[in-house]
Amino acid sequence: MAEEKKLEKKVPTHLAIILDGNGRWAKKRNLPRLMGHRAGLRKLENMVRLVKARGIRYFSVYAFSTENWNRPAMEVTGLMSLFRYYIRKKVDEVKAEGARIRFCGRKDKLPEDLLKQMRWAEDYTKDQNILDFILCINYGGRAEILDAVNSLIASKPQAPVTEEDLRKYFYLPDVPDPDLIIRTSGELRLSNFWLWESAYSEYYFTDIHWPDFDENELDKALENYAGRERRYGGLKN
Ligand code: IPE
Ligand code: IPE
Ligand code: MG
Repeated sequence: MAEEKKLEKKVPTHLAIILDGNGRWAKKRNLPRLMGHRAGLRKLENMVRLVKARGIRYFSVYAFSTENWNRPAMEVTGLMSLFRYYIRKKVDEVKAEGARIRFCGRKDKLPEDLLKQMRWAEDYTKDQNILDFILCINYGGRAEILDAVNSLIASKPQAPVTEEDLRKYFYLPDVPDPDLIIRTSGELRLSNFWLWESAYSEYYFTDIHWPDFDENELDKALENYAGRERRYGGLKN
């Protein structure tokens, strides 16, 4: 029983995934990049259910960065259409799982109809409380910090400001920092994801391209995480 309790504790409260490798997945199959993105979004459907079944409370995914606007217009437009399609088609399933959909990122530059749909999906699922499913679209860690600093300045705070003062202005201030960040497809970097919030996150990297990431891969990552010792600068227990 005591052992069980200990294992329970080792499940991340907030799991974050950098969904990378859609393009390479498609290339390997001689398919257009957008087919890779489509396969990637499909993969997410099941993942919400799997993540929930493992008792994770917050699940965030990096789907489009503030730097991804630098891609060819056709890819960007295609991605926006896929997001639109995915939200419309999947919101009921996600809601039925007890998941609340939230979006994280800058709202500028996104097409108006997509924004409208995002607001609708958030509102439609706002009472679900088993899992927060957070889609980071047009998200950049530097942009988030900068936006928070600007909002903080506008509030005319009393110096010196604290970390908590700044955090209040982050996009989702109530969401705890990610415990585990998984990145697929072999790159060993953060690419501007959860910059501030990842200060004490654990990382897990795999060469698997995101559309090939499955339940088995998820469990490998979670098992690896369960064996880590987090010290936050303190001493070993
Ligand atoms: C991740 O896949 C999805 C987005 C960044 C939108 P990529 O499109 O980055 O795939 P690779 O890295 O080119 O394989
Ligand atoms: C990171 O992937 C962003 C997302 C997964 C949304 P990228 O493919 O854009 O990152 P870089 O360019 O390889 O660093
Ligand atoms: Mg990539």
